[in-house]
Amino acid sequence: MGSSCIAKIDRRFPQQQISQVQWLKATAVNAAADYIAGFEEVVEQFLCNRQDWQGFRSMLHSASRAEIAAYVEENRQHSLAFIALMLTGACNADCAICFTDRRRKKHELKPEERRQVLRQAKQLGAQFVYVPGEGEPTIDEGWWSFLEACGELDLPALVFTNGMIFGDKEVCQRYWGMTPEQAVARLRAYPVSFYVKYWSADARLAAQMLAVAPQRLPYEQLDGIAVPRGLAVLLNGLPRERMGVEVVIERRNADEVAEVIAPFTDRHGLARIIEMLQHNGRTLGDPSYDPTPEQLERCEPLLSPTSCNLGTCKAVVTVQGFLSPRIAVLEHQLPPERRRVQEGPLFDLLHSTPYIVERRYRLDCLCELLPLEFAQNAGKAEVAAPLRNVSAPALASVIEHTVSGAAEEARAARLQQRGCASCSGNCGCHH
Ligand SMILES: C[S@@+](CC[C@H](N)C(=O)[O-])C[C@H]1O[C@@H](n2cnc3c(N)ncnc32)[C@H](O)[C@@H]1O
Ligand code: SF4
Repeated sequence: MGSSCIAKIDRRFPQQQISQVQWLKATAVNAAADYIAGFEEVVEQFLCNRQDWQGFRSMLHSASRAEIAAYVEENRQHSLAFIALMLTGACNADCAICFTDRRRKKHELKPEERRQVLRQAKQLGAQFVYVPGEGEPTIDEGWWSFLEACGELDLPALVFTNGMIFGDKEVCQRYWGMTPEQAVARLRAYPVSFYVKYWSADARLAAQMLAVAPQRLPYEQLDGIAVPRGLAVLLNGLPRERMGVEVVIERRNADEVAEVIAPFTDRHGLARIIEMLQHNGRTLGDPSYDPTPEQLERCEPLLSPTSCNLGTCKAVVTVQGFLSPRIAVLEHQLPPERRRVQEGPLFDLLHSTPYIVERRYRLDCLCELLPLEFAQNAGKAEVAAPLRNVSAPALASVIEHTVSGAAEEARAARLQQRGCASCSGNCGCHH
C-alpha cells in the first residue's frame, strides 16, 4: 500500500485548497445521506474509529430517519467541494507514460449534458470544475460551450492542457479558426485557469516525451530558459494568477524538475502540480521510466498534494458521463453496473451507486493503488517508484488521524466477502 505524507507547501491554485471546515461540513452531509440511503455499514466503518466524529455518529444513531433526511435536505448545497469532469478522450500528443488510451469515445457528453451536470454540481456547492482530462481538453468540439457554461454558472474551471494549440498557428486555426493570441484574448473573458504541461526545458526531449514532431512543440526563450511557445503565449496573455505548470516526474526529467522547472514556477509566481509517474495504461508494470532512488529523494519534497482525500466530497464524471470513484480510474476499470449522469439527479446518483459510496470514505490514493495492483496481478511488480498519497497541509489534522488499522482490516474482510465494487472484478483490489 502506498504511504502518505504531508506536503510542506501547497502550490496548487487557491480554489483547490479546500479548508477543514468545508471538508468536515461536506463529509458530514454525505455521510448522513449515505446512512439513510442504505449504506449504514460503510458510514459506520468510517466513523467508528474517529474520535472527532463520535458526536455526529451518536446523532445518526439517535435521530429518526425523517430528521436525518431533513438535515441532508437543508445542507446538501454544501456537499460537494468540486466536480471533476473529463472532456474529450482524443489527444493531439502521444506521451509514452500517458495512462489514457488517447481515443475519442463514442458517446462523449454533449455540451448541454455537461451544462446540466455542472449546474447541479454548482447547486451542491462545487467551487470549481476540475478538468484533468482523459485526452486533450482544448481539442474537444464543445470546448467553448463548456467555457460558456462555466461563465454562466459562475463556476471556475481548472484545466490541464499540453498547451500545443497555443503554440501552433496552424493547429489553432484548424480547431478554433483563430490565432493563438486571439484565442488567449478570448479566454480572458471566461473563468478558466490552466495547468500547462512543461516537462522539460529541452525542446528536443519534450517532443520526444510527448511523441510529437519538434515543429509541433516549438520552444522560445523566457527569462533565460527555454519554454514551450504555447506556455509563453498563455503567460503573455492571461493574468499570472490563472496560470500554472504541470509536470510528471520520470527518469528523463526528474533532475530538471528540481533544478529548472520548480524554480521557474517560483520565480514567476505560478501555480503548479508536480506529480509522480503512475503505472497505468501502457506503463502498467513497466518500471523503465521510474526515477532513480536519488532522483526520488530529491523530488519528493516538491510533490503536490493529491485530491484523493477529498473523496468524501467530490464527484468525478468520465468522458461519456459515467460516475467514477477517482480521477484516474478510467471507464473500462469501472464495474459493469457503472452509472451515467443522465440517469437521474446527480445528488441521488452519488448516494445510490454502490461502487461510488463504497469508495467515498477511502482517503488513500486509489488512483495509484489500483494500477499498482493491476501490475501485481500481471506478475510485474517490479515497480520502483513509491506511490504516494500527498495530503494538503490545510487538511493535515483532519486527514492524518484517519481510519485505524482495525477499521482497515474490517473493511478488507468485508470487501473480500463481497468482491470488488470498484472495477471490473479481476483487479484483485480487495484492500
Ligand atoms: C491524461 S492528461 C490530460 C490533459 C492534458 N492532455 C495534459 O496532458 O495535460 C491529465 C494529466 O495526467 C497526467 N498523466 C498522464 N499520464 C500519467 C501517468 N502515467 N502518471 C501520472 N500522471 C500522468 C498528465 O501529465 C496530465 O497532468
Ligand atoms: S498526458 Fe495529456 S498530452 Fe500526453 S498523451 Fe496523455 S492526454 Fe495527451
